[in-house]
Amino acid sequence: MTSSPTTTTLPGELAECLVSAERWLVLTGSGVSAASGVPTFRDAQTGLWAKYDAESLATPEAFERNPTLVWDWYEWRRSLIARAEPNPAHFALAEIGSMKPELTLVTQNVDGLHQRAGSEAVVEFHGNIVRNKCFDCGAIADSELDTDARPPACARCGGLLRPDVVWFGESIPQAALEAAAKAAYVAEVFLSVGTAAAVYPAAGLAQAAAVGGATVVEINPERTPLSASADYVLDGSAASWLPAIAAAVRRGVS
Ligand code: OAD
Repeated sequence: MTSSPTTTTLPGELAECLVSAERWLVLTGSGVSAASGVPTFRDAQTGLWAKYDAESLATPEAFERNPTLVWDWYEWRRSLIARAEPNPAHFALAEIGSMKPELTLVTQNVDGLHQRAGSEAVVEFHGNIVRNKCFDCGAIADSELDTDARPPACARCGGLLRPDVVWFGESIPQAALEAAAKAAYVAEVFLSVGTAAAVYPAAGLAQAAAVGGATVVEINPERTPLSASADYVLDGSAASWLPAIAAAVRRGVS
């Protein structure tokens, strides 16, 4: 069932399901941070991959070829994110999490905005752009780097530091994979928000949850590969629909 962008009234059956379900798995993507001014990746005009070449900036090979180019591009993204504030979508998810303690929030976003809005135990599927780690030894670096080097050197082994994000061709952190798979297995509700559902393994979580019997809900102003199989498609922005969901859950539990 698709609900239109002109209303944020939840279908009654969905509202009931959301109120009664305890085990939620929420997967978020860059669309959730769009209203905070953080660019998405694949939107046609404004997405990062419309303007920049992922192969030159977001792979280990790109870093080996030109570490300064890659470092500077991530520094630019960090400056955008440092200026961004969580939006009503982030705050609503934090509130839903406080009302549904068994909710697991898995994010593909590296911007830390869910945590800044108050969400706890966020599963960072693609890492966090604020942290750095050594390209050679993997040691996590201090967040305050007292150097102008681009990139700086690892204090432990002298290798080059890189952002602690998952690049194309790299594995998802094992703990994040396990937490997400476990949550998919038991989920009563799977909520996909602001993601093009195009990048695996994150995109496979919806199917895993559906096989386990979860009600699959998508929030997105565009159709994605998930839309056809979702039980409910809420057509519109995360910053409209998530506060509506938080309000429904709040009414239901109060
Ligand atoms: P995409 O840019 O692929 O998709 C963003 C999705 O958000 C699209 O489906 C949009 O329609 C939707 N969207 C845009 N504005 C929205 C809004 N206000 N509310 C709700 N939805 C909105 O970004 P992701 O799916 O997050 O990985 O991309 C997944 C991964 O691919 C990223 O983590 C990144 C990227 O390459 C790596 O860098 C490894």
